[in-house]
Amino acid sequence: MLCLGIESTAHTFGASVVDGKGKVLSNEKAVFTTEEGEGGMIPGEVAKHHRQHKDEVIKKALERSGKAMKDIGLISFSNAPGLAPSLIVGMETAKELAKKNSIPVIGVNHCIAHLEIGNLVTESKDPVLLYASGVNTQVIAYEGGKYRIFGETLDIGVGNFLDSFARHCGLGFPGGPKLEKLAAESKMKKERKIIELPYVVKGTDVSFGGLLTNLKQKFDSKKYAMEDLAYSMQETVFAMLIEVSERAMAHTGKKELLLGGGVACNKRLQEMAKIMCKERDAEYFVPENQFLVDNAAMIAWLGILEHKAGIKSYADKLDIKPYERTDDVIVKWR
Ligand code: ATP
Ligand code: FE2
Repeated sequence: MLCLGIESTAHTFGASVVDGKGKVLSNEKAVFTTEEGEGGMIPGEVAKHHRQHKDEVIKKALERSGKAMKDIGLISFSNAPGLAPSLIVGMETAKELAKKNSIPVIGVNHCIAHLEIGNLVTESKDPVLLYASGVNTQVIAYEGGKYRIFGETLDIGVGNFLDSFARHCGLGFPGGPKLEKLAAESKMKKERKIIELPYVVKGTDVSFGGLLTNLKQKFDSKKYAMEDLAYSMQETVFAMLIEVSERAMAHTGKKELLLGGGVACNKRLQEMAKIMCKERDAEYFVPENQFLVDNAAMIAWLGILEHKAGIKSYADKLDIKPYERTDDVIVKWR
């Protein structure tokens, strides 16, 4: 069976065709971006972007897969969590296509999809997932019939934190890759300065609000080199993420760490995760970048898993769930 996946929780509108065994035949997307400066994501604007691009993205996904709409047996879309106006575009598109082609449609949770695609494309089986993206920062693992959140951010997501700091410094959006580059430059310098920053870990939770204010003040004071700020920021923030991941691994007794989310593209974060796993004799897994960032392949794959597990959904009862939490979902497919 072939599944057409549709992703539209935030800035990415994606479409992908995946087969019943998990072979990804195509994985296409259009991403809403803003100009340099203070502009952020305005939900209405993002939804408009998705409406403009949805048909071409779906067409491309079908073309690249070498399949036609008539070959598709299931449609899966991300109905949670996310920005309501964006989620609606994905849902309307999915329902319309399902109705027109008389095929079933299913709505799935975006955060869980990040974990399941990791299990599909790496060798991980029962990992602790460090899900580090724009809006979301969670440490998730399977326990007692659900994917439970063992730790999370108490305020903003780590990606939004990076983007907000970068925007303040005039680096543009998205900030994560730009700060990574600057941090690497600092590492090359002979007289690099490590700047002490607030390190905020509470049990298995993290918080970035205070650190963000502190960094902005340091930048405004003009006393520090930008690359040293970027370097020290990365060392601090990623150490916080790795510490809570390790604590969740110790708590659950799990021996695998999986990375997910756009921030996990960062090579320094990957390196720190790898070292931590080696030190505690655990296995470390990271999917390639196209499956770390928001993508529709993961939505198609979770749709297939749920469908195979006999989870039925009815188009007229399906709705978006902007605030659904990872542990609201009963996992019947494991
Ligand atoms: P979600 O809706 O799942 O919360 P998202 O919509 O923000 O996520 P993602 O594609 O998962 O989307 O992640 C985007 C974030 O990843 C941005 O904040 C961006 O700055 C960050 N990012 C991307 N590449 C890197 C990198 N190399 N280093 C650090 N951060 C990065
Ligand atoms: Fe995501």
